[in-house]
Amino acid sequence: MTAERAAELLRGARHGLALTGAGVSAESGIPTFRGEGGVWTRYDPVKVASIEAFLADPAEYWRVSKERGRVALAARPNPGHLALASLEQGGHLVAVVTQNTDGLHRDAGTRRLIELHGSGRTVECLTCGRTEPRADVQARLDVEMPPRCKHCGGAILKPTVVLFGEQMPAAATREAFELAAKTDVMLVVGTSLVVYPAAEVPLLALRSGARMIVVNAEATPFDALAEVVIHGRSGEVLPEIVRLIDG
Ligand code: OAD
Repeated sequence: MTAERAAELLRGARHGLALTGAGVSAESGIPTFRGEGGVWTRYDPVKVASIEAFLADPAEYWRVSKERGRVALAARPNPGHLALASLEQGGHLVAVVTQNTDGLHRDAGTRRLIELHGSGRTVECLTCGRTEPRADVQARLDVEMPPRCKHCGGAILKPTVVLFGEQMPAAATREAFELAAKTDVMLVVGTSLVVYPAAEVPLLALRSGARMIVVNAEATPFDALAEVVIHGRSGEVLPEIVRLIDG
């Protein structure tokens, strides 16, 4: 019944917007941050993923990042990513705002993708600002730790992702908030909704009168605010919603 209601809301959406988090990539084999097996159950985020920690010991950051990068670069979109791309293609979503840095929404075909926490597909030099593909850097991590810029003579490279203590990219943040203020149906998928300002996106949508659908493996702090809550795997629930819309 709830999937039917979600399909009905999205079918009628004029400015549908999705916000996604790590849960949408879990079925592609990328571990989430919180909950069972989560990255932050093994590592302290302040120690490994803050800008202070990075600058103090970039090699330590890269040692942790190496494993996650290997998994993320090998990952492929799952049926949840594909369903979101198909919702955009069908006009039921205008964009996907994501906290993920894995690029899988783009691989799945999402055209308007707003990456609030940056992209893990590139790295940048902290001195000259030039970027390189992460895949190229990943290939040399076994012999070069931390990796250094090839262009400017050896400054440290950092993935183009937002670390704790850094600002979110200004243009992406503005675009996400503008879309949230305009959306009529807010679809939230695979996020614990505990990290701000990303979690402001659905709050702003609600304040602007949007109706909200939450698809997540477990309860979130926003469930009580949603019209439809589906506790399940996005790779199963989202394709079902698409089938119901198309059917
Ligand atoms: P979390 O790991 O906090 O939350 C992932 C959510 O996905 C959890 O609530 C899970 O229950 C749910 N989940 C797991 N598997 C799922 C599945 N197959 N289908 C649907 N839901 C599933 O990840 P985020 O909310 O994305 O930030 O975390 C937000 C930010 O915190 C990340 O972007 C990252 C992290 O620290 C930075 O690195 C700046």
